[in-house]
Amino acid sequence: MRETPADLLDLLEADHRQVELLLGEFDSVSPTRRKELFCQLTHELVRHEVAEELVVYPALRDLPGGDRIADTRISEQAEAEERLAKMEKMDAESDGFARQVITLRSAVVTHAKAEETSAFTMLRDAVPAEQRVELGARYTKAKEAAPTHPHPHSPDTPPGNVVLGPVAALIDKMRDSAARVS
Ligand SMILES: [Fe+2]
Repeated sequence: MRETPADLLDLLEADHRQVELLLGEFDSVSPTRRKELFCQLTHELVRHEVAEELVVYPALRDLPGGDRIADTRISEQAEAEERLAKMEKMDAESDGFARQVITLRSAVVTHAKAEETSAFTMLRDAVPAEQRVELGARYTKAKEAAPTHPHPHSPDTPPGNVVLGPVAALIDKMRDSAARVS
């Protein structure tokens, strides 16, 4: 947990950089380590996105023109989630999986850049610093509500989640837990 209160926008940008670093790691890991990295990436990406949906986008929708931007960014996030769900069914050591990583990386980087230049700029201009710190605390709380196990493919996944698939189950569980605290 963070010791000092942080501005929401600093937290969000730090998350973006961390996800980009994880995506970049696929270049240097051996194919046998891709699955593990994929699980870590999924966990980070999903908890960031879910916490954004609960804290960032509602604040954006309060601003003029915010609805349109929120809708576009949220549909990009939904596409990324679909891609993750597709990738989890693939052999992580295959060339097809490596190609999916390249597409995912490009989509995530483009999405993050668009968020920073549209949504975050609007929030920085319209929301006072003190309120951004309050939103930052809520964002951190929503993220921390995420299931602690770093691997959506953990063997202790309850049997009920098998129907959904581990990525979809993780997203579901995250939305549930984060909504309860935010
Ligand atoms: Fe984001």
